[in-house]
Order: sequence, then structure tokens, then C-alpha cells
Amino acid sequence: MPAVNKICCIGAGYVGGPTCAVIALKCPHIQVTIVDINQTRIDAWNSEDYKLPIYEPGLEGVVREARGRNLFFSTDVDKGIQEADLIFVSVNTPTKKSGVGAGFAADLNYVELATRRIAAVSHSSKIVVEKSTVPCRTAESMRTILEANSPAECRFDILSNPEFLAEGTAINDLFAPDRVLVGSLETPEGKAACDALTEIYANWVPRERILTVGLWSSELSKLAANAMLAQRISSINALSAICEATGACIDEVAYAVGKDSRVGPSFLRASVGFGGSCFQKDILNLVYLSECLHLPEVANYWRQVVLMNEYQKTRFSKKVVDTLFNTITGKNIAVLGFAFKADTGDTRESAAISLVRDFQAENANVNIYDPQVVHEQIWSDLSEACPTIPLTTLQKRVKIFSSALEACKNAEAVVIATEWREFRDIDWNVVYLNMKKPAFVFDGRILLDADKLRNIGFKVTVIGRGEKL
Ligand code: NAD
Ligand code: UDX
Repeated sequence: MPAVNKICCIGAGYVGGPTCAVIALKCPHIQVTIVDINQTRIDAWNSEDYKLPIYEPGLEGVVREARGRNLFFSTDVDKGIQEADLIFVSVNTPTKKSGVGAGFAADLNYVELATRRIAAVSHSSKIVVEKSTVPCRTAESMRTILEANSPAECRFDILSNPEFLAEGTAINDLFAPDRVLVGSLETPEGKAACDALTEIYANWVPRERILTVGLWSSELSKLAANAMLAQRISSINALSAICEATGACIDEVAYAVGKDSRVGPSFLRASVGFGGSCFQKDILNLVYLSECLHLPEVANYWRQVVLMNEYQKTRFSKKVVDTLFNTITGKNIAVLGFAFKADTGDTRESAAISLVRDFQAENANVNIYDPQVVHEQIWSDLSEACPTIPLTTLQKRVKIFSSALEACKNAEAVVIATEWREFRDIDWNVVYLNMKKPAFVFDGRILLDADKLRNIGFKVTVIGRGEKL
């Protein structure tokens, strides 16, 4: 089994950063260097006041303990590669924006560039680990590139080790994962590489939770896990529409259904729609894969999960317009939450972006507050979502506030887009006093105590609940 004394991680993002910081924390005998071409990101990881580039509960403590001891962040990608025995490739794999498969296929350009760099600068043999989420059989392309471009004395064993952490709970997920998945070839070398990676995780993960499977199964399992999680949300969201039309209550339905041990209670929380950098991208990737494999029925099945999510988002914004007497032109709508879920500052594919875009199409004024998302990110997301509205116009119609109370002042309606706990605890009496009347609340996250708000005087609409306003 090859000895692993030095690890390099290419990509210091939401996955590479936390994952390899935890490996460094748990394996003080291994030197871990996380490299990235983005100087600003690396500077933030190295910042003296620990203003890290991503907000993730518990992350700062991990970095404080390991950084400078056996954890290093650098833009010197080549040196990181050359020194390492094992390399995680943890670069972004977004949905392709143009060319063949645009809108569906994963853009593997970053994976390929990182792989080519490994081949170009390596002087010794390495284990190369796919950490990025990639289509089935990407490891084969990586091996072909590595073998065609590296010195004869270097051998590369490729493993698949997809990451299952969720943002907002990443550190807990990494400390106590449900499972770690390692995929390898069935060859003696492949198995030896698999053992070497298993030994690293075994420093803190119980061995029975480290699953070893074939390379292609491992790659596909990651897409499958995300598709099935997202499918549960689309299923409960589809039922939430029936609840609203019938007077049934989606929390009660989810509770009753989830009590069946074959179904289980997790991931059945109805919402304004799932967001995040993974679910939509990975399902579209699965749709593309299915189409390429001439399996159109399979592709259509998974595509429906994304279509249902789009329906849920537009259904919610339409409900806001309908309830506000069919027009929100010139009205002030407070949107509380801009991140795609609580406990993160990440906005990728956030439902809030779609809501604000829809409200802009109706010529509303929008007041946004989120406790973690930086303002530049909001402007960048909205500019991309509303390409026909110049930024100067957008900045007249949209305002960003530094507290929920401020954002709600003079609003006709408050929309809960992200389930930040602090929204439950704000003084809703004060919010009510400062709003125009009738004062509407639209809870897209089933977060608030609707009865309490109604007692204050609010007209409340909760996703998946059919009660009267
Ligand atoms: P990210 O965009 O936050 O980070 C990727 C980083 O890679 C960027 O900082 C970028 O500058 C860097 N990079 C790109 N090409 C590079 C190169 N050639 N050399 C050096 N650095 C390079 O992305 P992320 O959210 O960390 O996701 C990474 C992968 O992990 C994706 O495939 C994603 O699908 C998967 N994943 C993400 C999550 C999540 O919660 N975000 C969870 C599981 C899996
Ligand atoms: C997801 C997977 O959970 C994780 O295993 C994978 O590694 C990356 O993708 P993430 O996107 O970070 O993680 O967060 P997750 O908790 O899965 O939430 C995704 C979206 O679904 C969020 O917008 C969340 O608000 C929404 N959601 C989640 C619901 O609407 N209802 C639920 O019951 C659960």
C-alpha cells in the first residue's frame, strides 16, 4: 500500500476547503496543502483574522487548530502537486453554459485542466482522487490524459471519493459522516490505492462506514444520492400544492408519511424550492447521461424533479401577486433570506433569486435582508437573473438592508425565502406596526408561528397549508 505523507487538494472551495481542513485536523501526521488559482480565496483562507472565504459553522475552529501546523493554503499549484503522494481534485463542475449539452451536461473543463496540470508537473507516482462530482466514467478520461502526458516513471492510480457534506452542517457531516465512499478499479494497484485512502479516513471514521465499491458505481452513486434527495423534496412540494388546494396541511402529511420506517422523516420539508450548487446541476447531469445512453424515459423521469422545483418557485411568487390583489407594481416586498438555505452565505441556485426576479418582472420594490450573504453577491446574482434590467435601474428598485426590521419597514408584504432561525425570533409586533396595512406574510419555509402572527394582525400564507388568510 503506497504511503501517504503529503496530500494536495486542488480547489479551495466549499468542498475542498472544509474537507481537507478536517483531514488535516484529524491526521496531524499528514501534511495537507490546499491549492487554488484564485488568489483572493487563498488570501482569505490565510487571513490573520480568520475571515475565511466561506461561512460554515465550526470551520473557523478547525482552521485555527490545523493551519500552520500541517494545513497550508497556497496558489502554488505546481509545488503542491509535485510534493504530494495523494491529490484530491475538488474543482468546480458547473452545468455547461454553451456548446454540446449546454444547460444539462457538467462542464468538465476545470477537471481536465487540473488533471493536465498534474500530468505536466509530476515527477513521482501519485494517487489521484476525484472529489468533484463528475459524470460516470470520468475517471477513465482522467487516466487517459494522465498516461498520455506524464513521464514514464510516474504511475497514477485514480479513485473516486465523492463528497456528501451539506453546506451549513459541513463540519458535523465531515466529523461523523453517514458513510465515506471510495471507488476503485478491481486491479491490485487500484485496491492498494483504495486501502491507502481508507487508512486516512479510518483515523476518525469507523471502518464499517467506509464503503469500497467499483469506480463507476462510486461516480454514479453521488449523482444518484443527490437526485433521490431532491426527488423527495419535489415529491413533498408537489403534495404541498394539493394541500393548499384542499385544506390539508403538508407538515402533517409529511409527518404521517415519514413515520413509515421505509420512508423515514428526513428531507420531507416542503419549501419554496430547493436550491444550492448541487441538486439541479447533478440531476441535469443525470438527465444528460441518460439521454446519451439512449434512455429517454429515464431522462424524462429525472427531468421532472427539476421541472417540479421550477413550478414550486413560480407558484409561490404567483401566490404573492394573487394575494396582493393581483398587482405588486410599486409595492414594497421584503424578502428575508437570500442564501439557498440557513447557515450558509452561499446563494447558488437560491430560490430567493427567482422570487426577486419574478417580483422585478411585476415592477415591485424589493427590500432584501440576509444575515450572511455579502451585498456584492446579491447584486451579481440579480444582474445575472435580470439581464434586461440595467444595474442602475435594479439598484433603484431593490434595496439591501442590514437587519430584518429595517427591510420590513413600510412593506406591504414580507416573504420568508430562507429558514434562518433569527426570522422566527424578530419582534413581529414591531414589524407589524411599521408595515402598510393589510400586512401580509408569506412563509416559504414553514418557519414562523402562523397563529401568533395572525393574532398580531398579519394575513399569513404558509406554503403547503390550505388555511384561510
Ligand atoms: P467551488 O466553486 O466553491 O470551488 C472550486 C474551486 O476550484 C474554486 O475556488 C476554483 O478557483 C478552483 N479551481 C478551478 N480550477 C482550478 C485549477 N485548475 N487549479 C486550481 N484551482 C482550481 O466549488 P465547490 O462547491 O467546492 O464544489 C466542488 C466540487 O464538489 C463540485 O464538483 C461540486 O459538485 C462538488 N460538491 C459540492 C458540494 C457543495 O456543497 N458545494 C457538496 C458535494 C460535492
Ligand atoms: C446537498 C446534499 O444534501 C449533500 O449530500 C451534497 O453533498 C450536496 O448537495 P446542500 O445543497 O449543501 O447539500 O444542502 P441540502 O441540505 O441538501 O439542501 C439543498 C436544498 O434543499 C436547500 O435549498 C434546502 O433548503 C432544500 N431542502 C432541503 C428543502 O427544501 N426541504 C428539505 O426537506 C431539505
